[in-house]
Amino acid sequence: MTVPVLTIDGPSGAGKGTVSRAVAKKLGWNYLDSGSIYRSLAVAALKQQADLEDEAAIVNIARAMVLEFDCGDELIVKLDGEDISAQLGLEGTGNAASVVAALPEVRSVLLQKQKDFKQLPGLVADGRDMGTVVFPDAENKVFLTASAAERAKRRYKQLIEKGNDANLAQITHEIEERDRRDMERKAAPLAMASDALYIDSSDMTLESVIDEVLNLIQ
Ligand code: DC
Repeated sequence: MTVPVLTIDGPSGAGKGTVSRAVAKKLGWNYLDSGSIYRSLAVAALKQQADLEDEAAIVNIARAMVLEFDCGDELIVKLDGEDISAQLGLEGTGNAASVVAALPEVRSVLLQKQKDFKQLPGLVADGRDMGTVVFPDAENKVFLTASAAERAKRRYKQLIEKGNDANLAQITHEIEERDRRDMERKAAPLAMASDALYIDSSDMTLESVIDEVLNLIQ
């Protein structure tokens, strides 16, 4: 039996996670947060004080790590039995994830881990290369983006609401830097699949983005 797949790709901070989770819940489908796999690898590499650009070292860490996911309302991830969920959302983890994700061999090691999420009754897969590399045959594909300024503003608001210190200029700079790295890398760069629906969420409410994605499926 074929498993329906919906891919949602786009740059960081476009709202992919929130939209994907809501759509998966509504459809009763499984959810793959592929960024959390790269983030988990970043946590493992930082913990071992590995050089993030040393491909052989990072590949070894990627091969050895054992990840367990619990994709409930809040994502829980265990790395080698230890709950690392709290570290996944940190800015430093995201930036390190973007560095290790640029290594081609690392991406191929992590490919199967992502494909394993494709299970009945269906899958919503969120990332950068879901529609282009990991699930190129997906029936439904979305490319969700927003202007860098709007994404930085949303991230800033999130951090302040959580009681963290935040600097809008620095966040904007980091977002632009991450976009550049994710789009310019040779291996599976962030790109829109030719058969994807393009959604710019800069001036849209979350609800209207979710509705537009659900309309595509129905
Ligand atoms: O979606 P995210 O912010 O959690 O992703 C963190 C980093 O992981 C992102 O900057 C690039 C990398 N990534 C990737 O290369 N491919 C994916 N499918 C998902 C994430």
